[in-house]
Amino acid sequence: MPFYHKVGDIPRVKHTTFYKKDGKSLYREELFSSKGFSGIYSNKYHHHLPTAVKSVRPVDLHKKVDWPDAPVLYLHFYTDQKQTPGDFIRSRNVFLRNQHCSIATAHVTEDTDEFYRNAYGAEYVFVHHGSGTFLSEFGRIPFEAGDQFIIPRAVTHQFKFDSYDGDNKLFVVDSSTAWEIPNHYRNDYGQMEEHAPYCERDFKTPEYMEPHDEKGEFTVILKAGNRYFEHIVPHHPYDVAGWDGFLYPFAFNIKSFHPKVGRIHLPPPVHLVFKTQHFILCNFNPRPFDWHEDAIPAPYFHSNIDSDEVLYYVEGDFMSRKGVKEGSITLHPGGMPHGPQPGKTEASIGAKGTDEYAIMVDTYQPLIPTTNARDTMDKEYARSWLE
Ligand SMILES: [Fe+2]
Repeated sequence: MPFYHKVGDIPRVKHTTFYKKDGKSLYREELFSSKGFSGIYSNKYHHHLPTAVKSVRPVDLHKKVDWPDAPVLYLHFYTDQKQTPGDFIRSRNVFLRNQHCSIATAHVTEDTDEFYRNAYGAEYVFVHHGSGTFLSEFGRIPFEAGDQFIIPRAVTHQFKFDSYDGDNKLFVVDSSTAWEIPNHYRNDYGQMEEHAPYCERDFKTPEYMEPHDEKGEFTVILKAGNRYFEHIVPHHPYDVAGWDGFLYPFAFNIKSFHPKVGRIHLPPPVHLVFKTQHFILCNFNPRPFDWHEDAIPAPYFHSNIDSDEVLYYVEGDFMSRKGVKEGSITLHPGGMPHGPQPGKTEASIGAKGTDEYAIMVDTYQPLIPTTNARDTMDKEYARSWLE
C-alpha cells in the first residue's frame, strides 16, 4: 500500500509461463486487486490453486452484543474489564460499531493453527501488549508493542505471539473501506512529503518466508460482516513463492509518529495517521506543549457536529481527562460539545509537555455501543463536567 514492494521469486513478465523447480508444473498467478482492476494491486504466485476449497460451513464465533436502547451520552468504559480467553480471532470483544466500522479489543491467551481472512473489511490492529510474528501469504512481519498493522481486505493471516503467559492485548478497528495514507501527506508521485509526520522508512513490510508447499486440510476462518465461515482448504494457505505490487499488509509503530506542536493549541488533524471513506484515525504521542506565554495547552470545548469521537488510552497521563486509565475508551457523540473536565484547563496552563499515548477514531456516522460497553462503563462519566 505505501509503495511498490517485491518479495520472493516472480516471472520476468507477468501473465507468462512461470515453472516450478521441476520445470514442468506451473505456479498459479493470482491478481489481488482493489477497485476492480483500477486500484492498487499485487500479483502473487502460488504453488496451488488459490480457489481450491473442500468444504464450507457457518460457525458461530461471537455471541450477540446488541444494545438497541443504548443512550446517547458521554461514555467511558474499561476494555480490560471484558476479557474473553481465546486466540487472536475468538478473543475479540466489540464495544462500538456502525455500518462502516467496529471497534474491539482482544486479550489473546491462546495460539491457533487456523488462518483468518476478513472478506468484507480492512483491519487496523494495534498491538498494545505482546510481541511475536505476523504471518500472511505475503510473508512475515515481526511485531512488538506499539505496532499498528494495516491489513487489507481478504489477506489470509495470523498473529503468533512469542508467549501466551503474559498480557497480550490488541485494539482492532474493522473498516468497510480501505485504510489510506492521507493525500496531503503525499506528493504527486505518491512519496511521503517532507512535512508528513511519518515516512516510508517507518513502515514494516512483509519479509520473505519459505513457501509452504504442503497438502492436507487447513482451516481458514472467513469473516463476512457479522457472519463467520469455516473453509477447509486442501493446501497450506501460505504457498506463495513470490509476489510484487502495492497491495499488502504493513505495520507502523505509534512511537515512530512525529507529533507537531504550535505556538497555540493545534487541533487533532495534525495527529492524523490514516483515513477511510467513513472515519479517520489519529495518534497522540508525548510532545512539548504550546509555547505562547499565555497558552492553554488543554483543548478548548468543541462541537464536531458531524463526528463521533472515540479515544483509546494507551499509556501515560492523559492531560484533558479525569478518571481514564490505560485501556479506557471514551465516546463523545456527535451533536454534543466536549472538552476538558473541571480543573483540567487550569492545570494545563504553564505545563511543559505530556507523556500521553492515545489513539483517536473519529467517525462520520454515529456509533452504537454494545452490551460490552454497557457492562464495563464508568456510570459517573456523563456527569463528570458538573462543577
Ligand atoms: Fe475532540
